[in-house]
Formats: sequence, structure tokens, C-alpha cells
Amino acid sequence: MSTNTENETFQQKLEKNVVALTLVLALVLSIGGIVMIVPLFYLDNTLESSEKFPELEGVRPYTALELAGRDVYLREGCYLCHSQMIRPFRDEKERYGHYSLAVESKYDHPHQWGSKRTGPDLARVGGKYSDEWHYEHLEDPRSVVPESVMPRYRWLKKAEVNGEQIKSNMNGMKIIGVPYSDKDIENAPNDVNGKTELEALVAYLQVLGTMIKFEEGKDYRD
Ligand code: HEC
Repeated sequence: MSTNTENETFQQKLEKNVVALTLVLALVLSIGGIVMIVPLFYLDNTLESSEKFPELEGVRPYTALELAGRDVYLREGCYLCHSQMIRPFRDEKERYGHYSLAVESKYDHPHQWGSKRTGPDLARVGGKYSDEWHYEHLEDPRSVVPESVMPRYRWLKKAEVNGEQIKSNMNGMKIIGVPYSDKDIENAPNDVNGKTELEALVAYLQVLGTMIKFEEGKDYRD
């Protein structure tokens, strides 16, 4: 018997045995996964270096109010239509601004990169419009952008942010490495006291992509 026939027999046997096929597939796929993922834990350059580029130090954890806004963003599923990841291509940079850096998401758990763009990318929407524009837009998108297909979010202005909830969220974030001090966490309910979910969401939108002051023409990838 030639080697070729033996291989075929092995493959034929495998294809007829669901359990063996599943095990072999799982093995092969996990090798692929391990090869892709494990090296990332040992690289010291997965984030752009703030020693080399001091302006990257501007990236800070979200305030209590911004974090509350981010929770609203997740709950309402804004990510289903909006990505937060500007790719390093000319058309993207011209439309949205500087391409996204890994370091900008270092306190984002989970990150909101995404790839679904029914609406525009929001990675640098901070400062693009006034707070009033956002209030109008979230109340009724078609009042400011007549052709918009974005839903209305009218209930956000009626709901108040729950300070205790944000406090425990910040505690959770601290456990997974976001450097909140005990004071930040203690003050969280005061910071969000009396604020609506709409105000929190807009505070979050207004900080997106604004933490680093980019210098024209600088390449942060090297
Ligand atoms: C069904 C898809 C969809 C969902 C869900 C959605 N949006 Fe939009 N969004 C759009 C579309 C389409 C536009 C572009 C038209 C416009 O400006 O309204 C847009 C525009 C925007 C803009 C203006 C962006 C710019 O650069 O002009 C912001 C800010 C925004 N959305 C925030 C949100 C937030 C916050 C949520 C969740 C509360 C949300 N969107 C949910 C589709 C969506």
C-alpha cells in the first residue's frame, strides 16, 4: 500500500467519525488560536510607547459620569450600528481623523472597536458637535439630519443615573486593572448625582478620541 492510500484511508475514516473529526478539528483550531494569541502576552509593544511619545499619557480612565454614559451606550446597543476604530487608511483618516491607537482603548472593558457601520465611526466624535446638538440628535435624529435612519432615544432624558451602580462598576473596573483610586470610587455617586442618562451618554460621546493631542504627520506605529 502506498502512503497516499494510507492517508486517504485515515481521512476517509475521520470524515465518517463525528467524534474523531470534532476532536481533530478542535486540536487544529486551537493550535491556530494559540499561535495567534499567546505571543501577545509576551510582547512589550502591543501598546504604543508613552515613553517615546509623551502625548500618549493623556489617555486616562473615564470619569464616573462618562463611565455611566458608556454603560448606556452598551445597554442601548449603539455598537450595533457604530464602530469605534479608525483604520490607518487615507479615506478613513480624511473622514474621521487620526487612525485609532491601541493605547486609546487600554481602559476600555470591553473595547467598542467593532466593524459594523450603519452609522459613522464614533472613535473621534468627541468635540465634533455641541452638547445641545447631541441632545437634539438623540431625542430625534431626523430633526438635525433629515435623512437619518438612527432610532430615537427619548427615554434617556427621563432616567437618572444610579450612583451606587456606577460605584460598583468602577470597583469592577479596578479589579481588572483600571487605576481608579478609592477616592474616585467613593465620590462616584456625588459625581453623577441628579444627572440623567442622556447627560451621561453625551459626556461619554464628547470624550471619545479627545484624550490624545495628536501631532500632524507623526507615525506612532514604530
Ligand atoms: C440603526 C442603527 C443605529 C443605531 C442603533 C444608532 N445609530 Fe447613531 N447613527 C446612525 C446613522 C445612520 C447615523 C448617520 C445619520 C445621523 O447623523 O443621524 C448616526 C449618527 C450618529 C452620530 C453622529 C456621528 C457623526 O459623526 O456625525 C452619533 C454621535 C450617534 N449616531 C450616536 C449614537 C448613539 C449614542 C447610539 C446609541 C444610543 C446610536 N447612535 C445608535 C445609526 C444608528
